[in-house]
Amino acid sequence: MGTWLRDKIEVQGGDVMEVSRVYTLSIPGVYVTVKGPQDSSSSSDVMMKMRERGMNVQIMKGGSLKVKGGGRIKDWVGYDEGEWWIQDPSSTLPVLCMGTPPGLVVDLCCAPGGKLMQLSGYGIPVVGVELKGNRVRRVKENLKRVGMEHVDVHEGDGRVWRVEGGKEVKGVLVDAPCSSTGTGRRNSDVMCYEGGDLEELVELQKELVENAVGMVGEGGRIVYSTCSLLREENEEQVERFLKELPVVMDPVREDEVAGFEDCVKEDGTVRVWPGEDRDGFFVARFRKTQGGP
Ligand SMILES: C[S@@+](CC[C@H](N)C(=O)[O-])C[C@H]1O[C@@H](n2cnc3c(N)ncnc32)[C@H](O)[C@@H]1O
Repeated sequence: MGTWLRDKIEVQGGDVMEVSRVYTLSIPGVYVTVKGPQDSSSSSDVMMKMRERGMNVQIMKGGSLKVKGGGRIKDWVGYDEGEWWIQDPSSTLPVLCMGTPPGLVVDLCCAPGGKLMQLSGYGIPVVGVELKGNRVRRVKENLKRVGMEHVDVHEGDGRVWRVEGGKEVKGVLVDAPCSSTGTGRRNSDVMCYEGGDLEELVELQKELVENAVGMVGEGGRIVYSTCSLLREENEEQVERFLKELPVVMDPVREDEVAGFEDCVKEDGTVRVWPGEDRDGFFVARFRKTQGGP
């Protein structure tokens, strides 16, 4: 790992040796999120079907499945039927934290669509937004495979995009573009990250959250998440949002994030350090107060 990233981890009390070990030595399995509410019965059903085909599958606390080996993913049981999709367990957290607010939820940075499918699986109305046209197409293909073609996906800039017709929005997920420094188990190049575009990313994240806050009414829920290890994109952003925007923290509780109880911090944010079965991740939940940006 480069010294820049090592220093950044060290300064916030992270375990550099452990992160390096996980990034270089651990062989991640393939993790599957099963369609539908994240209860263990739908996950168990899929696991049993996979095991009947001789696959090595384990269910994890929280409902994700861990698959080892198994050949071509497209040949796995349930792929054609759209019963599941590939998603790291950490990546399921933002949607667990969003829960089911009573009304429309916007996923402001939605490609390739894992969290959008998870939200739609709850049976709540959801809309996805994505900046890049080719990635919008990918989201639509993914939605089609899992039988969720009805979900609206828009090509647009989440910094300014608003729902047509002034429909009331109850929740916005900002799963923000970031340094991806938490994903080194699968993308070893992040170990060489030196912050070249960090300032730009931090500004983009802020503008996305500003728009998200402007989109919901009083009491609306905003979930902000990154797969970054950096304070600049996580805790420092939270401090900034609380200072500059009409929001308060809506602390995440341990019982909302099965399997990640150890990652809930005193202030109600969720900080996941990379480990055997988890990418590095960060989630914070806010509630809109009066006023607007
Ligand atoms: C971390 S990924 C989102 C992953 C997604 N939520 C999922 O679960 O599959 C961030 C996405 O934001 C998109 N993005 C970047 N800038 C954006 C913007 N200004 N408005 C909307 N989307 C943007 C990127 O193209 C990328 O697809």
